[in-house]
Amino acid sequence: MSNSYESETLLRQYLDFHYRSQDADYLPHHPLPAGVLGYPERCAAKLIEHSKHFGSALDLGCAVGGSSFALANVFDQVLGIDFSASFIRTASQLATSGEFRLSEKTYAPPSGNRKCTPKFQTGDACNLPEDLGVFDAVLMANLLCRLPDPAACLSQLKKITRPDSVLLFTTPCSWDEAFTPREKWLWPTLEGLHEHLDGWCECIEVLEMPFVLKDHERRAQFTVAQASIWKVR
Ligand SMILES: C[S@@+](CC[C@H](N)C(=O)[O-])C[C@H]1O[C@@H](n2cnc3c(N)ncnc32)[C@H](O)[C@@H]1O
Repeated sequence: MSNSYESETLLRQYLDFHYRSQDADYLPHHPLPAGVLGYPERCAAKLIEHSKHFGSALDLGCAVGGSSFALANVFDQVLGIDFSASFIRTASQLATSGEFRLSEKTYAPPSGNRKCTPKFQTGDACNLPEDLGVFDAVLMANLLCRLPDPAACLSQLKKITRPDSVLLFTTPCSWDEAFTPREKWLWPTLEGLHEHLDGWCECIEVLEMPFVLKDHERRAQFTVAQASIWKVR
């Protein structure tokens, strides 16, 4: 299984998606359907809405960190983990110097009253470090169907959470053998999540979360992710 998230094209696409997709000129040539912009912030907001404790949050598969910065507005500590060294270098630079330049564009996290500066590290969601700690909230936005072994990832979440911790999974359910061997697909995805989580979590909300990911100024992918929020018993 390869990780295709190291290229400059993908870096630019995710920088635009995480730091420019609130802007009216994100896709300048045609109006967009309502409610599709600002996906990383909306994911963070949904997790925050259901969270009870605001000590620490984990953004697993954080890419360039847009949701991590939004979580940092309310959590005392935020950690973003991603497999892509290029994404993590970029997110770390945004955290330490407040901006990142790529060709002619400068990207910056939204200014505001942040409670903490998020930290970023490379890592494998299917093989998390033993000493990662325990989190009050875990976000996995559009990660599940990009993992080689989603069940292995889910099985580790119990030891990095505590009762009342909240988990948010969003997924386009785009299972693809380029990322996940067919026998490891969680299919149908929500049933797969219930199978792996019901013993120790309760599903508290399921909702549709549309988003637009721009390929370039005249082409974009319109996706409706399935989101589910779970509370640890
Ligand atoms: C579809 S992107 C979603 C990024 C971000 N959460 C968002 O919603 O925009 C999937 C992300 O997962 C990361 N990823 C893929 N496999 C991973 C793994 N095994 N462990 C951690 N991150 C992984 C990729 O590098 C990429 O940043």
